[in-house]
Amino acid sequence: MLGIIGGTGFSNSERFTFTGSDAIITPYSDEAVTVSSAAHQGIGFVFISRHGKGHKIAPHRINYRANLWALQKVGVSKIVAVNAVGAIHSKFAPGHLALPDQIIDYSYGREQSFFTEDFNELSHIDFTHPYDEVLRTTLLACAQYSSNDVLTQIMNGGVYACTQGPRLETAAEVRRLKQDGCDMVGMTGMPEAALARELKLAYASIALSVNWAAGLSDELITMQGMTEIIDSGMQSIVSLLQDLIVRLARH
Ligand code: HPA
Repeated sequence: MLGIIGGTGFSNSERFTFTGSDAIITPYSDEAVTVSSAAHQGIGFVFISRHGKGHKIAPHRINYRANLWALQKVGVSKIVAVNAVGAIHSKFAPGHLALPDQIIDYSYGREQSFFTEDFNELSHIDFTHPYDEVLRTTLLACAQYSSNDVLTQIMNGGVYACTQGPRLETAAEVRRLKQDGCDMVGMTGMPEAALARELKLAYASIALSVNWAAGLSDELITMQGMTEIIDSGMQSIVSLLQDLIVRLARH
């Protein structure tokens, strides 16, 4: 089954038709993770809101382990994460989508592994290719067959920089990210991707550019500006996810 991890702007109420929800108790938190179930053309999938109800949990405080453990518990084997990002690559203007294929992790102090206590056998996961290539190319195929302009212009690949947040970067930090080879910067890509790999779940990300990263444009980065782009970009993401759900069910 497919699980979708929605981020900023991907509120579960309006975009899909939800059929129910389960509160999953995990070993990682006193609070249950709400896993919503939904269907598209009769094909079931589940959804969680990364930042919790009402977008209250900041990126560095998200319980990534609880979220992923809960998804696996309800039978998810493939995850598509939606990530709002600041753009560094010059062709990744706000409003555009990307399917990143690499990560550099600049976050710190987050619970980043299931192999910390009470595990049977330590495993150093192979993370050479942090995103599942089959799922990523399936998303790309869905985008290429779409009639939606935003989807056909989707950037294939890109290096996702995960910063700690919740503040945005300084201009010098973004210059360094660019020198490091990063194409986009967000705050939630890690440890989510690595934890999915530890659980052997196929994981890919749809990144939505919501602003030029700090120092790359003269415009101030505002929450309002980001929210407007998220609102308009989300429709394309939903249609991409709908195509994916149908395609996965057929194969
Ligand atoms: N930096 C980090 N995270 C982000 C940004 C950004 O510019 N925009 C949206 N998420």
